[in-house]
Amino acid sequence: MSRRRGFTALLAAGAVALTGCTSGTVADTRSGGEEGLPTADLVFSSVEPDDLTGLAEEALPDDYAVPVEADYPVIPNAGALNERLAEALDQRIDNFTAVTPSAKGFESDWEITAAANGIVGVRIAWTEQGAEGEHTGSETHWYDAETGRAAYSTELLAGQEQLEALNDLVLAQSEGEEAADGALQPVLGLYDSMAFNDDGDLVVEFDAEQLAPENEDRTGAVIESADAAPLLSDLGTRAQAASQEAVEGFTLDEAVDGGGENLPVPGRMEDWTESVDCTRADTKCVALTFDDGPGARTPELLDTLAEYDAPATFFQTGRTIDRYPETVRRAYAEGHEIGNHTIDHPDLTTLDEAGVREELAPVNEQIRRETGSVPVLMRPPYGATNDTVAEVSAALGLAQILWNVDTEDWKDRDAEIVAQRAIDGAEPGAIILMHDIHGTTVDAVPSILEELTEQGYTFATVSQMLGETEPGELYYSRGRPTLPPESGPDA
Ligand code: NI
Repeated sequence: MSRRRGFTALLAAGAVALTGCTSGTVADTRSGGEEGLPTADLVFSSVEPDDLTGLAEEALPDDYAVPVEADYPVIPNAGALNERLAEALDQRIDNFTAVTPSAKGFESDWEITAAANGIVGVRIAWTEQGAEGEHTGSETHWYDAETGRAAYSTELLAGQEQLEALNDLVLAQSEGEEAADGALQPVLGLYDSMAFNDDGDLVVEFDAEQLAPENEDRTGAVIESADAAPLLSDLGTRAQAASQEAVEGFTLDEAVDGGGENLPVPGRMEDWTESVDCTRADTKCVALTFDDGPGARTPELLDTLAEYDAPATFFQTGRTIDRYPETVRRAYAEGHEIGNHTIDHPDLTTLDEAGVREELAPVNEQIRRETGSVPVLMRPPYGATNDTVAEVSAALGLAQILWNVDTEDWKDRDAEIVAQRAIDGAEPGAIILMHDIHGTTVDAVPSILEELTEQGYTFATVSQMLGETEPGELYYSRGRPTLPPESGPDA
């Protein structure tokens, strides 16, 4: 006998279980506070695992730095999905242990949110246990038997514009802090768990504390079926229909093409930002870089960059990402590149290999947590690097980005002087060093953009300007012999 189940009754009864399978820790679904996005209506459609023929359960090996109980379903003929789930859990655990020094344990459980029309949706709910308590969250992945591909939740939507439109709809439902501080951004890191309810409404859920530290429970939004429909991709439309179907004895045919194709993923900005071709002789590219932030005035800087349609690169530290995570998401969502500038800004050449790794690896994971993407660039504090720094950077997939124009904005807190140094130093291929933690630098940027635009420069992120970079390699600028930078004490 097939049975589809909503969780409304369970929620009303105050139950905390949100699970389609046997045991384990699952998402906490208590109602949230008075303000902000709701929690109580965040109910996905659900399918009994028994109604998927041959479904089995596997667990990741318990060989992480902390005890792990991470189960995931294995669905016959959905190889790409099964692999994706194992990989997503593995990444999640690595992320948790890297960003949480007090990590104690990790548990996860799963449920099937839809299984019909050659479509399967699987929601993974996890609990991270640390010294300061538990933190819950979830992600939902999809499978399309027509292509054999596993899909992220944002692929339910037709593209980046539709994700931006959805973000606006969610924003309209938000009355609390999320709206005020720009925490809601159309990035994969936020929109990683979406599915439909029994009525075909699109349900979006955000992890506890993801939008605001005071959100101890998950938050999210329910977008009416009719409002969601115009935003959906073909996969999304079929998933919406599948979510409303009764399921019994579901099976999948073997995929025809094995799902090898990589498609652009909404919310993963490198897939959507416009490419800048700095190799053309008639294109004068320059890369503005801002270190040590985000800072209190970085949002103002982002407004200015948006006004001039000027992408930039931000090398951010772990401490400041912790303080202004919403600014990291916003910068990324607006097409800027986020690079790794260590947790605590030490001189990395004074550290051994383990020390360098401890400074860099967690920041990669912090950036992935906020944006959904791992950075490919790092900048060593003070420009200080050596073979050990190069080796660890290479192992972490990070090219080392220095600069050939130093505005010395940390020393001269004078917007006119800073602007003049940037303008005087600009040349095709230049990487210009600034710091967005200084108000005088934020004040200098409008005239830099104005003047360099007038001189015919194209602004590019470092990766747009350099093209594909080699992890571990040092870069000072584009298309010029490498020059050692004049290291300042506050680079
Ligand atoms: Ni710095």
